[in-house]
Amino acid sequence: MSLKKTVLCVGCTVIDFVTINASFPEEDSDRRCLDGYWQRGGNASNVSTVLQVLGARVEFFGMLSRADGFRVLLEDLRKRDIGVRYCPQTDKDPPFSSVILAQDTGSRTIVHCNKNYPYVTAEDFKRIDLSAFGWVHFEARCPTETIKMIQAVVDYRSKCGDELIISLDFETLYEENLNLCDLCDYVVLSKDLALKKGWKAAQEACLGLERDLIQHRPAIICPWGSDGAGCLDSNKNYRDMGAYKANKIVDTLGAGDSFMAGFIYATLYRLYSLSDAVDFANQVASHKITNFGYDHIT
Ligand code: FRU
Repeated sequence: MSLKKTVLCVGCTVIDFVTINASFPEEDSDRRCLDGYWQRGGNASNVSTVLQVLGARVEFFGMLSRADGFRVLLEDLRKRDIGVRYCPQTDKDPPFSSVILAQDTGSRTIVHCNKNYPYVTAEDFKRIDLSAFGWVHFEARCPTETIKMIQAVVDYRSKCGDELIISLDFETLYEENLNLCDLCDYVVLSKDLALKKGWKAAQEACLGLERDLIQHRPAIICPWGSDGAGCLDSNKNYRDMGAYKANKIVDTLGAGDSFMAGFIYATLYRLYSLSDAVDFANQVASHKITNFGYDHIT
């Protein structure tokens, strides 16, 4: 297991405009929300936040913007001591999401606006000194570039003999991202993507993804909301890890990202086994939803 504990999170950072509503609004209605706020969001960006809150050292690698609206995101990253030294910059306006939290059902509805915002490239990734990291976490996004970045980590690892763990957050574009999975140590497959594939439970999803891989290398983890999560190790042993029931459901935005961060933290910092790390991730996700944002997770 790696002695280097800094995690590099590769992916997106966006502005989340969140409104808290008693219930989901009717279409074409004009109403007031109970409260609202903005926060830094995006999958890898949220994973960075939760890792940092849990006590990990984190560096974020994603496209930053020189646009005025982006300054709040930069300030938040700086305030939280999340490194951004390798990030390229663009003049384009940052992506954002309108998020509706409905307090009666606990749902979070995300409308995301990306405006063709550029994604980091394999060329940008070459500037990173990988010797500083113990774990590199990727979003399964922009597969043609991401596969080259993952391959660069694999090549670095075999050349330098360094232990460097690779994980993948697999939420979209199933066919296009499949070959990324074979290069990773851990793949976390989202419930939404699994349902789109027609898999009706975590075990079916883990086994289904495993069947579709060519080299069958990674451990596969599939969080299944209030049913907990399943995990399949690289020897094909499957385990269901039960959920922790939250005493209240306040904010489910970023629960999956919190699960991901909990899993990385437990594996890298606490040296937990696969199933124990998934159990810890379940605890982090269920605790996350009991309050707004991420700062209450400790
Ligand atoms: C939550 C999230 C939000 C963001 C959206 C992007 O998982 O990362 O913070 O708006 O997803 O798809």
